[in-house]
Formats: sequence, structure tokens, C-alpha cells
Amino acid sequence: MSKSMTTTVEHLSIFQYTRGREYEGNRFEISPRPERFKTYNGPCVRLKTSIRKGGEGSPTSGSLNGVEWLKRVMLPAFGVTSVKFHGHESELLWSFPSAGGCYPVEVYVAVRRLDGVQPGLYHYNALHASLYWIEDEHAAERVRDAQPAATRDADVCFILSIVPWRTCWKYAHKGYRFGMIDAGHVAANLQLVLRSLGWQFAAYTNLRSEELSALLKLDALEVPIAMIAASAGSPMHGDHETRSAVPPQRLQIAERGESLDDAEAQLFNWAPIFEFQERVNRTVPAPSDDWLTRLSLPEEWTDYDQLLPLLIDRRSSAAFERCELPIEDLNTMLMFIEKLELLPVFYLIVHDVKGLPSGVYQYAKGDLRCMREGDFRDLSAGICLGQTFLKDCSVLFVFTVDIAQISKEEFSQYQQSSIDGGGLGQLIHLKTEEMGLGFSVIGGFYDDEFRELLQLSSSHQIVYAGAWGRNAPNASEARKHDRYVMNRPQS
Ligand SMILES: Cc1cc2nc3c(=O)[nH]c(=O)nc-3n(C[C@H](O)[C@H](O)[C@H](O)COP(=O)(O)O)c2cc1C
Repeated sequence: MSKSMTTTVEHLSIFQYTRGREYEGNRFEISPRPERFKTYNGPCVRLKTSIRKGGEGSPTSGSLNGVEWLKRVMLPAFGVTSVKFHGHESELLWSFPSAGGCYPVEVYVAVRRLDGVQPGLYHYNALHASLYWIEDEHAAERVRDAQPAATRDADVCFILSIVPWRTCWKYAHKGYRFGMIDAGHVAANLQLVLRSLGWQFAAYTNLRSEELSALLKLDALEVPIAMIAASAGSPMHGDHETRSAVPPQRLQIAERGESLDDAEAQLFNWAPIFEFQERVNRTVPAPSDDWLTRLSLPEEWTDYDQLLPLLIDRRSSAAFERCELPIEDLNTMLMFIEKLELLPVFYLIVHDVKGLPSGVYQYAKGDLRCMREGDFRDLSAGICLGQTFLKDCSVLFVFTVDIAQISKEEFSQYQQSSIDGGGLGQLIHLKTEEMGLGFSVIGGFYDDEFRELLQLSSSHQIVYAGAWGRNAPNASEARKHDRYVMNRPQS
């Protein structure tokens, strides 16, 4: 391995756990839990919080005004879809998964042309289902200039940022990577919803975050990491002759609400993350198609009514039923993942699939190859910080990226692969939901032990694992341990 590769591998170890040193540097027991939402105060555009569960026929873009359209996009793509109670504790659940329920993603909307909506930059508050006008139309124009030429004329641009303190508080530096993965989930949701509403769009998971951060006047530690530029496929432009008679609501610039987190966040050691960000920023290519996500969308779910219940009902499995899955189910999922074109190779630890010996497998180019036969239930659950419910899943997927395939000059692709990896996770979730099975992204594991089991060199970074199988009958009542406490390793 070259010296620069060794340095990169060493640096990326900030995102990894080794036995006995997991969570090192976090502030879970020292600092209060970070706020889950950014707030702005002022007049806002309220989106009605009802969304249908199908059956009324798919809306076409042309039949919606801008506010109705935003409602149909934002509520399912970035929305609170359920509340779970555990005694006095209650937790909001969203239309995308998030490591430990920390939800570090914020969404901004730059509106240039949307019928009945005042142009400008908006912050979307999912809890209030409201859009706050934070900058005027000139700022929205400057966002346009920060995009690759191909989409500079887009009507709307969604910008996804992460607030790393929300995850690093709990997971230390590894939390930063969880933020990238979570942003990928939201990016996948937005693309699916936009497509089902007949919009044209381009999703960028590589971008100049410092420039955007300045345009959006973001808080010091918040980082924009993805954006989706979108244009109506049919009449939605404010200057179109069929525009609605609804005049835009006149707004004033909303003010950033006070945050109590800043002082606590300063106590965390950000230096390794700043170094990572600096390496990413230095190697972001010039605005171009190079910024485009590497993840293809599946052929499925082009219909809004078909997509909606999947997004709303999706949940991460908290308990699996120990059972043999039909091999056809596994083949369906393998084909699905392959068609998304993100990963040339990935790994599976098969516990229970009919007709397939248990063991460690590699999947590459349509070929499922057994690397090692055996029962790895205990070993793999042990690698995943002893999360015992994983012993009952039928398959544990492991998704990796080989940093040796990314040159020093292209380092930003490492961040991009984590964001796109998140998108992959969300698509697997939706496919699993459609198949009537259960899935959970698993981010708690010892990286070096996984590498050893999969016989991978140190340049392979494990993005996350994914437990897949049949939900246990009591799965909806089971507590997600990583969410309520932490996945403390069992001694
Ligand atoms: C990056 C990432 C890592 C996760 N890691 C774990 C994990 O190690 N163990 C686990 O049980 N769940 C894990 N989850 C699932 C979350 O606990 C779950 O998404 C969250 O509690 C929200 O619940 P929901 O997905 O059902 O909406 C992870 C999710 C993500 C996105």
C-alpha cells in the first residue's frame, strides 16, 4: 500500500470502532441530548399535514399549485410518519431511517419558479410541516449559480445538510458518517417522489459545501452535502399561461431561533472531522455531471399512490423470526441491488436461506460465491457489538467501499459513496417493505473484525451492514436498542 493510501486509511479510522474503544470521545453521558430540529421564527408557508394513502388517483403536476406540490413532495420524502411510546418516552419516527434516531438532516428549498410560492430560500421544518423564508429571490439565484450548468435553469433546488453534533454526541466521529448515510436516505426519497410526480431532476451527492453553506448562512458546524435540482415536466412555472390565480403568500425573512447546543458542541473534538472535510472540499471536482449520484433509481414505484404507503409504513426491524427464507426472495433482492448499479461487489452472511448452505458469500456481477461455509450467527452478532436480535435474521448484508479504488485527488468520492450508500439502504428498505419482509441498517460494528471475517484488506471501508429476514410477530413492539440507549457491547 502506498504511503498516501496508508495515511488515508489511518485517517478514515476515525469512522470506525474497535473492540473496547467503541464510542470513544462521545458526549452521550456528559452533554444534554442535542436538539432534533433547527428552528426559524416568522411567518411561514404551512403545508396541510394530511397525505393520502392511495386510492384517489395519482395527482399530476399540472393539477397542483406550488404549495400543494410542496406538500406532496415534502411530507412523504422528509416527514414524521409515526410516534412510538415507551411508557413516558415518546419518539417521532420518520419516512427514512436514522442511526440511533438522531436525525441529523435538515432540508432547504431554493424556489425560483413555483406557482403561488414567493421565490427565495426556505428552511423546511418537518415537525411543523412548514417552510420558513430565510433568504430572498437573489439568494435563490445564487444557489442556481452554485449548480452544474445542466440544471441552472431548474425551478426548485432541494439542499440537504447535516448537523453533525446530533450524531457525534452519541457516536463520536463515527456519527459523522452516519450523517452522510442519513442524507442519502432523504435524497433517495426526494428523487422517488419527484419522479412519481412527473418532475425532471438531477441529484448531486458531490458539491461545494463551503459555497452553499455561505449562501444559506448555515450554523458553524452544519454542512450541506447533497442537492437535488428539479423542474416541472408540465405547467408549474409561475410565468406559464395556465398559472393558478393563487397569489404567493407575502413573507418576511424568518429569524434563526436560538440554539442551546452551541456551547456543548464546542466541547467535542472536531479536529479529525475538520481535517476530513478539508480533504473532501479540496478534491470536489468542478461543477459538472461528476457531481451526480452514482446510484440509479429502480424501475419500481413510478406511481405516487404505490410509493406513498411504502414510504409511510417503512420501519426498521427490531426483531426477526428465525426462519428459512425462500431462495427466490433472496434472488429478487440481489437482482434489485445489482440494478441500482452502485456496488460492483458486496457481501452476505447467510444464516437461513432454503437451498443455500449457511456461510459467508460474495456477490459480484450476478454471481453468488460461497467464501466460507458455516454458522456465523454468533460471530456476526458479536461483531455487531453483540446485538443479539441479529442472530435471528436470515441474511446479514455487508456493503463496503474500497478506498484503494479512489485516488488521493478524488477523495471527495469517499464521502459521495457514503451518501449514495445511504440511498441504497433506503431503496432496500422500500423493496423489503414491498416484499412483506423486515430490514434494518446496522451501523454498530467492529470494522476490523468484519474485514477479517470477509477477508478484506484494510483499504476496504465498511459503509454499513443490513439485517434482512422475516419480522417477528412482536417486532412492532420491540424496542430499537440503538435508539433508546446504545448498543453497549456485551461482556
Ligand atoms: C446509519 C444507520 C445505522 C443504524 N444502526 C443500527 C444498529 O446498529 N442497530 C439497530 O438496531 N438499528 C440501527 N439502525 C436503525 C435505527 O435504529 C432506526 O432507523 C431508527 O430507530 C428509526 O426507526 P425507523 O427506521 O423504524 O423509522 C441504523 C440506522 C441507520 C440509518
